[in-house]
Amino acid sequence: MLRDWSDVYSVGIAEIDHQHQGFFEASHRLYQRILEREELQAVAEALTFMRDYAASHFSTEESFMRDHAYPALAAHQALHAAFFKRLDALADDLATFGPSQDLADRALDLTQDWLVDHITDEDVLYALHARTHATDVAVS
Ligand SMILES: [Fe+2]
Repeated sequence: MLRDWSDVYSVGIAEIDHQHQGFFEASHRLYQRILEREELQAVAEALTFMRDYAASHFSTEESFMRDHAYPALAAHQALHAAFFKRLDALADDLATFGPSQDLADRALDLTQDWLVDHITDEDVLYALHARTHATDVAVS
């Protein structure tokens, strides 16, 4: 099921919220392109866009966590790395088997549903840490 951005996903940091909205959009685009099944080039483009968007977004988050001396940074980075492994496996299967309803569903699970769980289970924790340790912010 496609889910739209909602305030319930807000972590209270405007830049991160904005990027999460873009992440949803990248996810939906990938899902739709796989469902359309015809244009392999369009699927590849959406996959590349998703990968680049995630890389840029994770880098923003990791810088934020570093700036706020977030103690669970390494564990959070490992979750980001695991996301790319699963995305690579999806890309391999798309190349091997071609687009299908199953792979479209898997793409949505891996990107959109993963993001929802990741925001509510993990991203809220660094946001809370930043709020409760506001005086620890590194000056750069
Ligand atoms: Fe994250």
